Amino acid sequence: MAKRGNSIIKGIEVSEVISMLNKAYADEWLAYYQYFIEAKVIKGIMKDAAIAELNQHAADELRHANMVADRILQLGGTPLLNPKEWFTHTNCGYEEPKDFDVVSILEDSIKGEQCAISTYASIADIVKDKDIVTYDIVSQILADEVEHEEDLQSLSDDITDFIDSMKKHI
Ligand SMILES: [Fe+2]
Ligand SMILES: [Fe+2]
Repeated sequence: MAKRGNSIIKGIEVSEVISMLNKAYADEWLAYYQYFIEAKVIKGIMKDAAIAELNQHAADELRHANMVADRILQLGGTPLLNPKEWFTHTNCGYEEPKDFDVVSILEDSIKGEQCAISTYASIADIVKDKDIVTYDIVSQILADEVEHEEDLQSLSDDITDFIDSMKKHI
């Protein structure tokens, strides 16, 4: 644990920061797996474009898990050690793919990103002016999640427009 590093945290218990980060850590692993498996099972029109996007997001979520785990350790905490705990700690849950169609898969993922945005925005609000280092890390992740939502939404819009224009020409 970084003693001087932790001494600059003011107005919030370090244990509270660790506990919020561990919940986000659970979210990141579940998001990683969701993208990983979605990229495998997805079916339908323009699926190659979607697979490229889903794999990129999976890599980003794993990178986020890494950033969050490192910060938990720096604070003197322990990242969740058992995957069972991902389900008891998650904020955003896990959206099991039921319909493998491109549009449904993208919809599930957009919901996940919207939850991630709310989660990181609320952590940023809580640690702002109290724990600058955590604030910086969650702000970087938040910017990625906002980009993720936008990427998925614009891909989903493109696919829906394409389907609509096909219907007009039949
Ligand atoms: Fe993430
Ligand atoms: Fe994301």
